[in-house]
Amino acid sequence: MKKIIVTGGNGYIGSHTLIQLIKSGDFQVVSVDNLSRSAKGTMDRIEQITGQKVTNYEVDICDSDAFFKVIEQESPIDGIIHFAAYKCVPESVDEPVKYYRNNLNSLLNVLDACEKYHIPNLIFSSSCSIYGDVEKLPVTEATPAGQAACPYAHTKQIGEGMIQAFTHNHPDFNAILLRYFNPVGADMSGLNGELSPDKPNNLMPIIMETGIGIRKEMMVYGTDYDTRDGSCIRDYIHVTDIADAHVKALQFVINQKNTNNCEIFNLGSGNGISVLEMLHAFEKITGQKLNYRLGERRQGDIPAIYSNSEKARKLLGWECQYGVEEMILSAWKWEHNRQK
Ligand SMILES: NC(=O)c1ccc[n+]([C@@H]2O[C@H](COP(=O)([O-])OP(=O)(O)OC[C@H]3O[C@@H](n4cnc5c(N)ncnc54)[C@H](O)[C@@H]3O)[C@@H](O)[C@H]2O)c1
Repeated sequence: MKKIIVTGGNGYIGSHTLIQLIKSGDFQVVSVDNLSRSAKGTMDRIEQITGQKVTNYEVDICDSDAFFKVIEQESPIDGIIHFAAYKCVPESVDEPVKYYRNNLNSLLNVLDACEKYHIPNLIFSSSCSIYGDVEKLPVTEATPAGQAACPYAHTKQIGEGMIQAFTHNHPDFNAILLRYFNPVGADMSGLNGELSPDKPNNLMPIIMETGIGIRKEMMVYGTDYDTRDGSCIRDYIHVTDIADAHVKALQFVINQKNTNNCEIFNLGSGNGISVLEMLHAFEKITGQKLNYRLGERRQGDIPAIYSNSEKARKLLGWECQYGVEEMILSAWKWEHNRQK
């Protein structure tokens, strides 16, 4: 079994990835998460789903002494999946320094640890936000990075650059940069899902909160975009599919299937879905009416983005298992469970 350190393992995508890594049977996993953006119960939920206890070190990865101590204790380590970061776009606009400090210092310490403790493989959480407002859809890995729309997206662009420079002068080190589109949904058991912050900004948690009645109403931001129904189009992808891609990415580098030591993959479903289509799908699938209003465009939103994920299919042998129905039903089940 290969030992993998998962940073941010208490978070939304990290916890689902821990579940899929355990289920694969190939990996022994340890999480490092300071709980700055998550709550304590995650490891219990993972145990409930997988039957396996996972250790989480409650350590700030920006604190190099504390982080290296964990790495030393857990060495030898076969790979790191680095999820830990702040990810809220409006917050990054209001507090850019906080975002650069956390997202870049943590990555620098991860790279230092890879060098110092001879950790040969790294998977990095990047984002489709690095593409900015693209002209040509769908987006492939060859689509050039655009103007970052916010400091958060800029930290991902810089992070990718830092890893590319590191792999350049460490030929035996392998990195995979995974550019996620819009992860949604929850574990199909409904026992683990997204723990949205006080005021979520993403569509799916807002739909769930409106559906269940925590929110009185929700707003559709912009209905005059040049899209098929005027609302924004995004590429939603089930979080378990995203998690599975990490399992495949690790197997890819560990089995030395990669020809470059820094590979980039888009992770999207390839289907663009509009905000209004998602609202209507929720109403149809759950039978629950949503109270929504049509409003003005929101600053910083791009009209449409969706992915071409052919490269991940070809090289990683990865494909989405779940569609919109599973995204909605799993999130709805989780919403009910977490309200109990
Ligand atoms: N969720 C999305 O829509 C999305 C899309 C594209 C990319 N990403 C990226 O994927 C990664 C995971 O996202 P998520 O949705 O699971 O976020 P999340 O906020 O749910 O999880 C991140 C976890 O990292 C931890 N963390 C943050 N800074 C830390 C630090 N300095 N030391 C230790 N732990 C720290 C938090 O406590 C949290 O549990 C992030 O890098 C994010 O930027 C997310």
